[in-house]
Amino acid sequence: MQNTLPYDAVVFDLDGTLTCSEHGILASLRYAMEKLDAPMLPDDKLRQLIGPALGESFMRVAGLSGEQVKKAVQYYVKHFDEVGIYLYSVFPHIRTMLTMLKKNGVYLAVATSKPLARTVSLLEHFHLRRYFDRIIGEDNNDAQIGKAELIRRALPETCRRAVMVGDRKFDIEGAKANGIDTIGAGYGYAAEGELKATKPTHIADTTQELMELLCPGCTRPRGYFLSVEGLDGSGKTTQINLLLKKLVDYGYDVVQTREPGGCKISENIRDLVLTTDNMEMSASCEALLYAAARAQHVHEVIRPAVEAGKLVLCDRFVDSSIAYQGGGRELGVNEVGQINAFAIREMIPDATIYLWMTDSAEALKRRRDASKPDRLESQPPAFYERTREAYDQLIKENPKRFLVVDGSKPVDELAEDILHAVLERLKTLEEQ
Ligand code: TYD
Repeated sequence: MQNTLPYDAVVFDLDGTLTCSEHGILASLRYAMEKLDAPMLPDDKLRQLIGPALGESFMRVAGLSGEQVKKAVQYYVKHFDEVGIYLYSVFPHIRTMLTMLKKNGVYLAVATSKPLARTVSLLEHFHLRRYFDRIIGEDNNDAQIGKAELIRRALPETCRRAVMVGDRKFDIEGAKANGIDTIGAGYGYAAEGELKATKPTHIADTTQELMELLCPGCTRPRGYFLSVEGLDGSGKTTQINLLLKKLVDYGYDVVQTREPGGCKISENIRDLVLTTDNMEMSASCEALLYAAARAQHVHEVIRPAVEAGKLVLCDRFVDSSIAYQGGGRELGVNEVGQINAFAIREMIPDATIYLWMTDSAEALKRRRDASKPDRLESQPPAFYERTREAYDQLIKENPKRFLVVDGSKPVDELAEDILHAVLERLKTLEEQ
């Protein structure tokens, strides 16, 4: 495919360029130094070990030699595989930028001094591997190939305008040896003045600037819309907060919001609908208020964010109305569906996580023990049973959209299940 972007081939360094590796790498480096009883280096010194090949860095920066270097690398690798990798995160905007470059037919590669196997597992871990036409790394932790040769191997056989993006002088010098343009990632791990001294073609001080350099004028891909549902007391809020943190680590630009609420007008409606002062509120008034709050929320928050390429994570959405007002209040699933269709105008979640509970009474007890119940939480048990049944029906009718998880599991286990299900769904959506 022809593209009109400034470059038709982009080679990226990994640590400090695509991924924020500091916490993961520093933790593993500290572990290696401690195990060797070597004097601990301050963080700014340890940071200089990020980028070049590990063995060489242990010698140059930490002053280790021979057998010590070998041992340090072994300790590092063990700790990194078990702990360090999980402390990595993808820099913001990187995922969106890669999507745009790929959509425009740009050849993408990674050239890193990290061992190839570990590079591939990191990219797989973050579901980034599929963006790259070629991934080049060292054979093991001792520099053998060198950055210039790694970059040469990463470049395609033919390209007219290639560029290397990297955060250390080794990346810029290696790219220059191949006669290609260079972008210094100023947000990475270079020491003060290091990048400027190598005179790259451009310097990007943020990933936003990098995106503007590589994809000027590109339309951002549509974002994603995830909703989370469950009975009161199913542990929804705790799980949403845990999921949010993980999705940010994976490089998603997340907007967290909730219903009823999420913007000024809808939060005002929330107060009106949930206060125990309004016990005389009719069921249809309640249903229309939830729908009205939702219409404003979709208009002001959800639709603009999704169109701007963000990932919206919403605590409850239209399914809550269908279950609580359609089922719980017995207004009818179809009737409530209709007023909400008018409110949301086809803004349907890409996926809905449902925290399933076998027993609605148990969920409600958990909720009531936590804090003073609102108007909806003050209903008789039969109301929640009907609500639960309506959710079950919705899940049966929308098996592709719902991701059902077992809400009775311990918090950490449940968080793992949710993350796994969500990432798999996002991967499928990204591949479409
Ligand atoms: P929620 O914010 O999840 O409760 P909490 O403050 O305990 O976290 O939801 C508030 C209540 O509103 C909850 O009982 C479910 C109810 N609700 C509906 O009945 N219909 C709806 O459309 C929505 C969004 C919520």
